Amino acid sequence: MAIGNDQIFVTKTNDERVFELYERLLEIEQRLIPTGLHVFGRPSAATERGDLLKMIASFDRPEAGTRALPEPLVDAAVREFVAHGTDAAISYLEQHGVSAETTRPVFSLLETVSTKLETNNEIDSLVRALRGEFIEPGPGADLVQNPDILPTGRNTHAINPYGVPSAVAFARGKIVADGLLNRYREENGRYPEAMALVLWGLDNIKTQGEGVAQALWLLGVRPVRDALNRATNVEAISLAELGRPRIDVVMTISGIFRDLFSPTVQLLDKAVRLVASLDEPLESNFVRKHVVEQITADNCDADEAATRVFSNAPGNYGANVNFMVMDSQWEREETLGDLFVTRKCFAYGRDSKGRSIEGREARLAMDRALARVEATYQNIDTFEIGLTDVDHYFEYLGGVSKAVEKRAQARPAIYLSDSLSRDVKIRSLEETVRLETRAKTLNPKWYEGMLKHGFRGVAEIENHVSNTFGWSATADAVDDWIYSEVANTFVFDESMLERLRELNPHSAHALVRRLLEANGRGYWETDEAVLAKLQEISRDLEDQLEGVA
Ligand code: BEZ
Ligand code: MG
Repeated sequence: MAIGNDQIFVTKTNDERVFELYERLLEIEQRLIPTGLHVFGRPSAATERGDLLKMIASFDRPEAGTRALPEPLVDAAVREFVAHGTDAAISYLEQHGVSAETTRPVFSLLETVSTKLETNNEIDSLVRALRGEFIEPGPGADLVQNPDILPTGRNTHAINPYGVPSAVAFARGKIVADGLLNRYREENGRYPEAMALVLWGLDNIKTQGEGVAQALWLLGVRPVRDALNRATNVEAISLAELGRPRIDVVMTISGIFRDLFSPTVQLLDKAVRLVASLDEPLESNFVRKHVVEQITADNCDADEAATRVFSNAPGNYGANVNFMVMDSQWEREETLGDLFVTRKCFAYGRDSKGRSIEGREARLAMDRALARVEATYQNIDTFEIGLTDVDHYFEYLGGVSKAVEKRAQARPAIYLSDSLSRDVKIRSLEETVRLETRAKTLNPKWYEGMLKHGFRGVAEIENHVSNTFGWSATADAVDDWIYSEVANTFVFDESMLERLRELNPHSAHALVRRLLEANGRGYWETDEAVLAKLQEISRDLEDQLEGVA
């Protein structure tokens, strides 16, 4: 089996290699994945419910006063719970040395969640909403991170932006950001001077601002709350406490974040300006170093040189890099990065005189800030949506990375963190693409789950392939074996191809075309025979579609 990492087989003893391989396989095996789509109005089936409960039981929940069930026993204990109820599950765990005292609160939580999963008010709520009736509010979050989002079919509300980042988010953000810096140092022998972070609104709702906390911690500041307990200010953490230089952080934020977290946008901008103003040695404060350099080299003012918070023009959303890639409407890769900057080069914050900057075009400032970036990063914080599930990850993280590549004249290191595992995991983009491919696109549990949804399911499979392709286009981060295995699994397996074309010939055709495009653009090296076969199948599908039309 191709694990797809050449580095693991270098200068290691056999035992070390076997152990690494074991860890790699375990990581794929234990990866939590959704195994189908939600059907509006339908409560979750028993197997799906069991899977969700397992995930919920795998984490400590201080807010609910529960501890994670021991990893080797979770599976069997939750199966026992679903089949025979709380007492049976508790006594099963007692037989394995886990006291009822610790497990009872867990199963009490699971009982509540399970009941809520069995009910579904979505259609009723929709009808009531259409009649203009009151819909009960409920928090918006990831089900595993916050089971209080159940029951569904309520009026989702966000969080108070003044509460962001929460104390828990700040503590966690610190650990993740330190992990990120450690990983960069392991690979480069020093700290990155500047990083670009992608911040999304929904993610920061779900985590109460973990992404915001990471940015603050990299800069070396902490939030300060005012008399009303609102996070409206920041204070510098001393260099002694920080034990490292302050990293320059370029923040590219979504339109949704800008709209939902207006006070937080101000907080982030304030943090950069505070750090730039600190009287510290330049080698310990990369923000100040860069601001000073820029004022000298470009003769610009300090306000402009310290601009780091960028989003769309007011009222606009998205970087549109995804649309350009999906429609194959580009010739040179750098166009994708340029589009990202064109869409996102609007500055937000406040200048030194206290005047508000609400989406002022600042293309030059963004070009300059990105030119110094050595690493780009985004946090993935949900069980439901990963790197290849939607086109927005490559739109944002891919887009900003491509923009950096041209402006810094070097490809940045690209990282993602993973709030899905119990311990914080930082992975390179390439590692994450491999893991997602193994855990989802090429995993029969995943694609069979999708195929149960017929037409839509095939479209999801094709989306995954196209989103993977997006990581070739924006970051050249996809190994050849990934495209080869996609072709083997979905196109060259005759019975599979037959199923796809029966269910959804449009998506089957798009998938084959995307593979050919990957080869045509130089992202996939393969044999002439493979290409000839793909061409033939593509023509066949075209004929079929014309016949349908
Ligand atoms: C956001 O929550 O900010 C977001 C969601 C989807 C795509 C892009 C951004
Ligand atoms: Mg390649």
